[in-house]
Amino acid sequence: MTEESNSVVSRRSLLQAGAGLLLATALPPFPARAASPDGYRIIAAPARARLVGPDQPETDVWTYNGTVPGSLVRLRQGEPARLLVENRIAQETTVHWHGIRLPNSMDGVPGLTQPPIKAGERFVYEFTPPDAGTFWYHPHANSLEQLGRGLAGAVIVEEREPAAVDQDLLWLLSDWRLTEDGGIASRFGNRMEAAMSGRVGNTVTLNGRVSAAEGVRAGERVRLRLLNASLARIMALRFVGHRPVVVAVDGQPCDPHESEGGRILLGPAMRVDVMLDMQGEPGRRYDVIDDFYDGLSYRLTQLAYDQRPPIRGHSLDAPLELPRNPLPEPDLASAERHMLALEGGMMSMGGMSDMGGMMGGGMMGGGGMMGGGMMGMAHGAVWSINGQSMTGDGHAGMEPALVFERGGSVVLELRNQTAWWHPMHIHGHSLRVLSRNGKPVPHRQWQDTVLVAPKDAVEVAFVADNPGDWMLHCHVIDHQMTGMMTVLRVA
Ligand code: C2O
Ligand code: CU
Repeated sequence: MTEESNSVVSRRSLLQAGAGLLLATALPPFPARAASPDGYRIIAAPARARLVGPDQPETDVWTYNGTVPGSLVRLRQGEPARLLVENRIAQETTVHWHGIRLPNSMDGVPGLTQPPIKAGERFVYEFTPPDAGTFWYHPHANSLEQLGRGLAGAVIVEEREPAAVDQDLLWLLSDWRLTEDGGIASRFGNRMEAAMSGRVGNTVTLNGRVSAAEGVRAGERVRLRLLNASLARIMALRFVGHRPVVVAVDGQPCDPHESEGGRILLGPAMRVDVMLDMQGEPGRRYDVIDDFYDGLSYRLTQLAYDQRPPIRGHSLDAPLELPRNPLPEPDLASAERHMLALEGGMMSMGGMSDMGGMMGGGMMGGGGMMGGGMMGMAHGAVWSINGQSMTGDGHAGMEPALVFERGGSVVLELRNQTAWWHPMHIHGHSLRVLSRNGKPVPHRQWQDTVLVAPKDAVEVAFVADNPGDWMLHCHVIDHQMTGMMTVLRVA
């Protein structure tokens, strides 16, 4: 018997013991590989990482299995998964499997779906992912700091038949706020920042390092999985000289299409899978630009073609479309309808001198005013949903704002009455995006995180088929922490 199977404690006995467990001292250092026949073992622990470059100082980070991003978790669609999480950071944590439709008890929200995993303890997550696609995992406890210090990893749920591509690549993008000496700036939870764009950093990494170039070969077709694991930074990626075709959003396949203006919009927590035919010239380099914030565009990386001749004369002649996942189609005729008004924050981009971490100053506009919505809010709250502010990461006793009958169809209108963007995330379900400002959204898109622009209204629909209490919150973590969160119950 391996040490791994000896040390594994069943979830039932964990729960019977009333909490997670011990054994921190008896365990060996990090496993060389996280995957084992028994499933994954994921250890949350501090480590050091060279984020910026070889001649730059190292950064103290918090990691899953010693690296940022954390171990890549690869699961198979429809096959049971088992993930043992061990907490070796000096505070409570949980893991949320973002976007995966799983049983409520495995959702990783402290207080609401499980007791937090105390320092030195462990918890076993078990679920069978119904959907293939690109997902991710991150803490749902003290999220601002834990995610901000590096705790995040990707989950790839493999299709039963792999897509016909030459390469399947993942770019996990993270935004860090680093100090001069390479440390992570402290002061998480600045209230002024929370009332605006949230903690936008000053350094963006691609798979854990600042990237000068990513090597590609002419003629190949790449499936590129883009994942924005930032606390707050919204991205709009342009692949100069290329025409990426969007084939999935938030893990869910859509009708293949080129995005508007060729810009791929990625709010925090969002994933977009694109098919990229490498039609550039051997030996040349092509910029990949993020130009979301006015005046703050920067080069994320370059596609660097090697000298070899194209591997084929024309683009690969294989279908781009990915097989659909088994999502229940909402019945719009019988659906119950609700509006969720997003309110609060600064009325306009504030003239803050306090945001030294931002790249340049182009985001800041005229004088800011606190929104009327901030008046009378609970202490610490800045944002609200339908006048109610749930703050923090989740805790016991959160009462659901809406209760749905199991199996019923629901249409939600997310109405952004603020001056800021909000990537609104629902747990345990995926949302069919119906319309934006009354205009139908094409390409049959499903998302678990819907980016809502200032003053926009987005209509989404889903079948409330997964019983339990589920969070719906903004994934700009400062916004979530300060009130833009609610709970939906599927009875
Ligand atoms: Cu990725 Cu409650 O969030
Ligand atoms: Cu928000």
